Amino acid sequence: MDQQKPDLEQLNTDLQAAIDVAAGLDALDAVRVHALGKNGVVTGLLKTLGKMSPEERQVEGPKINGLRAEIAAAIESRKSALEADLLAARLSSETLDLSLPPKEMPKGSIHPVSQVMDELAEIFADLGFAVATGPEIEDDWHNFTALNIPETHPARAMHDTFYFGEEQQRDGQPMMLRTHTSPVQIRTMTSEKPPIRIIAPGRTYRSDSDATHTPMFHQVEGLVIDRDIHMGHLKWTLETFVKAFFERDDIVLRFRPSYFPFTEPSAEVDVGYSLKDGKRIIGGDPTKEDGGWMEILGSGMVNRRVIEACDLDPDEWQGFAFGCGIDRLAMLKYGMDDLRAFFDGDLRWIRHYGFSVLDVPTLSAGVGA
Ligand code: PHE
Repeated sequence: MDQQKPDLEQLNTDLQAAIDVAAGLDALDAVRVHALGKNGVVTGLLKTLGKMSPEERQVEGPKINGLRAEIAAAIESRKSALEADLLAARLSSETLDLSLPPKEMPKGSIHPVSQVMDELAEIFADLGFAVATGPEIEDDWHNFTALNIPETHPARAMHDTFYFGEEQQRDGQPMMLRTHTSPVQIRTMTSEKPPIRIIAPGRTYRSDSDATHTPMFHQVEGLVIDRDIHMGHLKWTLETFVKAFFERDDIVLRFRPSYFPFTEPSAEVDVGYSLKDGKRIIGGDPTKEDGGWMEILGSGMVNRRVIEACDLDPDEWQGFAFGCGIDRLAMLKYGMDDLRAFFDGDLRWIRHYGFSVLDVPTLSAGVGA
């Protein structure tokens, strides 16, 4: 019994201190190997138990095993703490700001027609209008009859309609590609209760083709149905819309008496343009030399026969409607001169005239590009 007894308490204190100062997982593992590894100091002590007398072992066994358990537990808890620190550091350094633009720009671009539709939705949403849609394949009643265009009406011939064959009739009705977005007026009035405030942008079709007409084109319909609506509301709404769209205050509109079966009275609306640097621009003084008027839309007070066709009482509900070519709006705002190029699918054209995917029109940031 001359052999000096190892000071377990001192060893415990030293090891605990080494564990506490271990600055990383590697340093901590070195402490673990030094204490509990195959040739570790605590492992060495455990080995001495075999050579002890049973009495001695009964005293020293629990002490050495207790030391081993304490050190193992201390290493485990230090390990958890270090791992938590590491995770916290990673979380704070690897933040992802989803509001930042991507490092690599998206390859595609937004077609001017889509861009203008988004701009329209943004402008009219601000005025309390919802966006409505309807089918592009329409029946006779929605496209014509309910809009006060009976079968014999000359306006039917004006529309150059693409009809489907007789075998495609539905409920005995001729079917067609809609010639305008006005059937969405009917679909909205028959499915929703007034007050109604909607715009309906979408594709329309007429058998027509030259530099300013394509068989498929785009319109936006506007419809307001409420009590005591009059032409002043129509005029203010259109002026507000056109000024917001072209982002100019010096825009004048001219209302010309016109005729549409579904509105009474009806007005075609012209926008004033002027000449700047040899180019026609919307806005300015149309009465000046080189200035003039350009027709941009048809409008009017909804004909009471249309309101009746939708089972609403025209003495209670009135409203206004307008229809406007979207492609033409895009051409005027963004300076294209050939409508056919809109639908050619030429990548060079879309790269030149297309809009960034990230450039979402908002009223606060501007609906222009
Ligand atoms: N639907 C008409 C057209 O295509 C436009 C219009 C809509 C006119 C609504 C008046 C009211 O020409």
